Amino acid sequence: MTQQTTATLELDLGPVAHGGFCVARSEGRVVFVRGGLPGERVRAQVIDDSKASHWFATATEVLDADEHRVDPVCPVAGECGGCDFQHVEIGFQRELKRRVVAEQLDRIAGIDWDGVVEPAREGEDGLGWRTRMHYRTTGGVPALRAFRSHDLVPVPDEGCPIAHPAGRPAAGRFAAEGPEDLQVTVSGTGTDAGTPRVSVLADGALVEGPATVTETVGPLGLKVDADGFWQVHPQAAQVLTRAVLDGLEPGPGDKALDLYCGVGLFAASLARAGARVEGVEVSRRAVGLARRNVEGRFVAGRTERTMRQLARHADLVVLDPPRKGAGRRVVADVVGRRPRAVAHVACDPGLPGQGPVAVRRGGLPPGLDPRLRPVPDDPPCGVRGDPGSRCPGAVTAAQLFATPLVGTGSSILSSPARLVSTTNR
Ligand SMILES: C[S@@+](CC[C@H](N)C(=O)[O-])C[C@H]1O[C@@H](n2cnc3c(N)ncnc32)[C@H](O)[C@@H]1O
Repeated sequence: MTQQTTATLELDLGPVAHGGFCVARSEGRVVFVRGGLPGERVRAQVIDDSKASHWFATATEVLDADEHRVDPVCPVAGECGGCDFQHVEIGFQRELKRRVVAEQLDRIAGIDWDGVVEPAREGEDGLGWRTRMHYRTTGGVPALRAFRSHDLVPVPDEGCPIAHPAGRPAAGRFAAEGPEDLQVTVSGTGTDAGTPRVSVLADGALVEGPATVTETVGPLGLKVDADGFWQVHPQAAQVLTRAVLDGLEPGPGDKALDLYCGVGLFAASLARAGARVEGVEVSRRAVGLARRNVEGRFVAGRTERTMRQLARHADLVVLDPPRKGAGRRVVADVVGRRPRAVAHVACDPGLPGQGPVAVRRGGLPPGLDPRLRPVPDDPPCGVRGDPGSRCPGAVTAAQLFATPLVGTGSSILSSPARLVSTTNR
């Protein structure tokens, strides 16, 4: 956690970095500054000086403002750890995200990516999109964690502006009853959805709405627990599914693996395209639902330990690991199955770069050329937010690589790509 200090610095802010920071320098040291924009001059309070090489600071006063700076909609923006870029005009938030992804791909994987970040839906204003909120409460009101802290920041009276509006009244109502922990899920917001439904768990017990909800993705309806994993932006499941299908091009008879499959989001579309699907997921509840949602074989367990129970050969693989990534062993096991194509969906902008690097280190299957196509990510800018969320912030970048050989054998080639923004990080 943050080490409290009182030092104040005047800094010229350099490039944007992952996590909502701009990089500055002070007396030979790197300072990661939150709440600024590249090119700005700010006065910043140091909030963590525990490392000699780099400090963390928060901009407290803007001395020379960038033209893309705006007044945050949320009165607790900057204090609350949820959003990184509330002070930035929405279109420029996407440009910052593009820079972060491009920099990470270059640094981690040596990939020169010149893609763009698009809004997940036309007219996206960055508000009212988050369908899963995990609050703590304080003084009978819902709260989120302060940045890099256990301190609680009460959300505004009218609710957290990035939370889906259908869930805000319930959050306020149930927080007043005094639970410590509140999970609010708004379901039925996906494609062709009807009226959204609200489920609330207070200290883990269901107090409103259905325990199991149905989410719609194109023609498919999938059951998911109200407190189980589901993509948090209403468009994310659809956008990611489209990206995965475009990249994998599944056909009848293909053998497909959905690793970290949750309730079978990607497995469902692969099966619909005629593929024979196997999935792995650590949550037994989710595996039970995947078996109801999708015709396929689903194994409960840790992917790294259960890969050997899966088919030895796979034509197609989806990798959608939690925040820490899949790890080398899983990637090696994927490569060993000699797939025709792999789709990597990452919730951290750093991870898309790690896929090709891990594949390169693991050795390429003959005839495969890792081809980068980062795809979807981000609702409007930056909810790092809900404490305790399984995939906090969910910058959901999907990356497709290892398509059939078209060029050289072992170099990483980049292709024009789109990155669709669905989160606020
Ligand atoms: C980012 S979510 C993706 C879920 C699913 N693909 C979807 O989009 O709905 C990651 C999933 O991995 C599961 N998980 C976490 N660690 C795991 C592990 N070691 N092995 C298998 N599943 C794991 C989580 O329970 C979660 O459902």
